[in-house]
Amino acid sequence: MYKLFKPALSIILPACLLTISACNNSNTKSTTNMTDSLEAKIPPASAFQKTIDGKKTDLYILKNSKGMEVAITNFGGRVVSILVPDKNGKLTDVVEGFDSVEGYKNAPGPYYGAIIGRYGNRIAKGKFPLEGKEYSLFINNAPNTLHGGKVGFDSKVWDAKQIDSTTLELTYLSKDMEEGYPGNLQAKVVYTLTNDNGLKIDYTATTDKTTIVNLTNHTYFNLNGANGGTILNHKAQIFADTYTPIDPTSIPTGIIAPVKGTPFDFTQPAVIGSRINDKDEQLTNGKGYDHNFVLTKPSLDTPVATVVGDKSDIEMQIFTQEPGLQFYTGNFMKGDNAMKYGAKDNYRTAFAMETEHFPDSPNEPKFPSVVLKPGQVYKTTTEYKFSIAK
Ligand code: BGC
Repeated sequence: MYKLFKPALSIILPACLLTISACNNSNTKSTTNMTDSLEAKIPPASAFQKTIDGKKTDLYILKNSKGMEVAITNFGGRVVSILVPDKNGKLTDVVEGFDSVEGYKNAPGPYYGAIIGRYGNRIAKGKFPLEGKEYSLFINNAPNTLHGGKVGFDSKVWDAKQIDSTTLELTYLSKDMEEGYPGNLQAKVVYTLTNDNGLKIDYTATTDKTTIVNLTNHTYFNLNGANGGTILNHKAQIFADTYTPIDPTSIPTGIIAPVKGTPFDFTQPAVIGSRINDKDEQLTNGKGYDHNFVLTKPSLDTPVATVVGDKSDIEMQIFTQEPGLQFYTGNFMKGDNAMKYGAKDNYRTAFAMETEHFPDSPNEPKFPSVVLKPGQVYKTTTEYKFSIAK
């Protein structure tokens, strides 16, 4: 069960009373070269200013004092761009995504950049027990439910309020029995760009009936740049001594297995591609890395994982309060979609590091609980922080 948090008294500063409308970034000065020929830039806001399901979508820009920029749309709360300097100081867009809201709407499945809910990752056979009742969900990843169901939080238009130049607040009310989950769930996700180049994501949720909740963010990163080619030469370190092996349908077997002596040992930095083709039943089941790592020490002060782009030397550190990290190496990417910078979403040209509770937890009493009860507040923070590798 999630811990009970006393909702903090919010001190509303006068500046915060101003709801700053989405910045029209057509004049954005982010024109530095990312590669020899392409410049890193945030897509035009106009390509995101549409009406979907009767609600307005837009593109919101966060900027910090270091020149880092992040673009987020309220369609699915998707992170569209993250512009950070590489080893030569050139701004690099490390997010694989689309340059229009239609791109995201027409290709919901890969969940590019999205907030995932009500339940991140899979629930076996789309069924779970709760307080003596069995609930059924839509099977969108046969034979299981993946990332919320037919229309998850990734494809909802969230209510957006830009608090200031570094903070965007998104809220969404998921109605009782939406996608088969009980309880009206009021969810809030706050993106904050810090002055030490961190993108902090604060998730909160409350319910009026006992329910399950497991929110995460599904940004696809390529630290060499959005059109940077394979991620197999990136180096990753994950501070996890154990992981949750999966069956051939990607459902955890329930076993918590040591990583030692397996291709899942990232306790020391390792090139992502160095063991990905090893003969290993788990790599076969996941078609590569697509597994939940059991974090040894979830923390907002020391990283739970670090990834470095081999060409850019851009280092991304991940901090989280969540017990698990789903490391996904883009094994299902097929190059079907036209992405930003004229790139295709080719096989393994991006990776995701989704901080969350373990897949299928509602059916695994031994896993940390994802149950949320009325009166409790679901509250969790994750941060992705960027720097240059030393
Ligand atoms: C899942 C993958 C899935 C990907 C995109 C990841 O979180 O574990 O199996 O293909 O999301 O949907």
